[in-house]
Amino acid sequence: MKVLCILANPKPIEESYSKRACMEFVNEYKKTNPDHELVVLDLYEKQQEHLSYENLSNAMKNYSNKMTDEANYFSSFDKYIVCSPMWNLTVPSILKSYIDHIIVKGITFKYSSKGIPSGMLKNKKVIYIGSRGGAYPFPLSLIAWDDKYIRFIFKFIGIKDFKKIIFQNTDKDPIKAAAKFPDFLNKIKEYSINF
Ligand SMILES: Cc1cc2nc3c(=O)[nH]c(=O)nc-3n(C[C@H](O)[C@H](O)[C@H](O)COP(=O)(O)O)c2cc1C
Repeated sequence: MKVLCILANPKPIEESYSKRACMEFVNEYKKTNPDHELVVLDLYEKQQEHLSYENLSNAMKNYSNKMTDEANYFSSFDKYIVCSPMWNLTVPSILKSYIDHIIVKGITFKYSSKGIPSGMLKNKKVIYIGSRGGAYPFPLSLIAWDDKYIRFIFKFIGIKDFKKIIFQNTDKDPIKAAAKFPDFLNKIKEYSINF
């Protein structure tokens, strides 16, 4: 079993709620599944680029290039952990840039003869580990696109098994948030054991 953990946060771990939560998840996961291969992909360390015209036009001609290589590598995993802060109601653009590289026709999705797209990745799962400065109970939940975007873009490529766990109010009430974080980490452990 191969697991890909995608990090989309420039902060060092000590300063990031989502990264600390994610690393707790990863460490617990490794304890529960010592024989699984877990790769951490830090998009800032990797210096993930935006999609270039060169890569885009090569992909259109079906050449092997950054997009196809990235998409094939991404597809080789069975489970995905996506770790991200909420930035301006969605995920940081570096994560979107990565997603732009791995959504590739013929690798992660295809069109039927009637032109209907369908995801090509089957029997895989994803968990979204996020953090937000505020809280988004309904109807504000309608404008919180971080988890929804990840859920629907993974669904587009065939991954319907989606779970999320989000730590909220980190900026709205920092003292309360810090006090609540140990409980959140306990919850993270439970999610990890069941992933
Ligand atoms: C550029 C930027 C944009 C942000 N936008 C939002 C936002 O739209 N909604 C929100 O609730 N918090 C927002 N925040 C606050 C972060 O989501 C919050 O600080 C969160 O805890 C960051 O996660 P981290 O601790 O893992 O870095 C923003 C923070 C930054 C730096």
